[in-house]
Amino acid sequence: MPLPKAELHLHVEGTLEPELAFDLAARNGVKLPYADTDELREAYRFEDLQSFLNLYYELMAVLRTERDFEDLADAYLTRAAAQGVRHAEIFFDPQAHLARGLDMGTVVEGLWRALGRSEESHGISTRLILCFLRDESADSALETLEAARPYLDRITGIGLDSAEVGHPPAKFRQVYETAAALGLRRVAHAGEEGPPEYITEALDLLGIERVDHGLRCMEDPELVERLVRERVPLTLCPLSNVRLRTVDTLADHPLPAMLDAGLLCTVNSDDPAYFGGYADDNFRAVRESLGLTEDRLRELARNSFLASFLEDDEERRARYLAEVDAYVF
Ligand code: HPA
Ligand code: ZN
Repeated sequence: MPLPKAELHLHVEGTLEPELAFDLAARNGVKLPYADTDELREAYRFEDLQSFLNLYYELMAVLRTERDFEDLADAYLTRAAAQGVRHAEIFFDPQAHLARGLDMGTVVEGLWRALGRSEESHGISTRLILCFLRDESADSALETLEAARPYLDRITGIGLDSAEVGHPPAKFRQVYETAAALGLRRVAHAGEEGPPEYITEALDLLGIERVDHGLRCMEDPELVERLVRERVPLTLCPLSNVRLRTVDTLADHPLPAMLDAGLLCTVNSDDPAYFGGYADDNFRAVRESLGLTEDRLRELARNSFLASFLEDDEERRARYLAEVDAYVF
């Protein structure tokens, strides 16, 4: 049995496996520009974040109906359960779907069909986090939040993803303020490809409670000190960092140095269908390549529950933490 854990950095569209992409393409009469799953897998060689995003957005064309989003989320939850995931806070990118003519209801209700029964079906509690695309305009983000208003009972928080460099957090100050006033939790990708200043800006101007990635904080010792002092969690994604060439090899990943510095790190899968592994695959990879001890792995699992948005269910958080403490490697 894998170590129990929460997954806090997971794009549901990034769980679209090639087989499911072809099944949905056939169901919806969508023609993909790849002959088969082998040829599609050949395209999974990325130079950087943008080269991945191009394929990520292209394949979304197969997602058309509520049932498609339900099947996507259900397939993820099935895999996540086998990897010891007990709680998942799941990102989705509505702008990418609204731009294709879908409506917010199709996306949210479709995902909810799977998430709403996830505890019974998979033993996984869930939260949903709506992400804004930072390479779209601030107005588009505000319009997207408006479109989500009827569904806010299903949505726990907001995030910020897509192409980072050239799209600093400041651009989204207003939509984060509006979201905070609506009682939504706030996270943002920062310091993946972008500079450490983007992390500081996201904390100061957007009021984020967790940093997604945040890897490049290590270039700024004062920022590291602040993140440690304020106990700001970081959602790291080691296999993603290797595939998108943020680090050269897994053995070069700064995770051990980050833990030694006292940062509240978590390990997550980001876009597992594209980056070669789900949650426990990431845990096993860092264990093998970075020689993390069992104590460190247990700390990472504890951190995942400590960093999760379970303030509305502290009993559950305590139960999950007890499972981690009782785990025998
Ligand atoms: N970074 C930024 N945007 C994303 C990612 C990522 O790793 N995955 C999906 N959208
Ligand atoms: Zn991400």
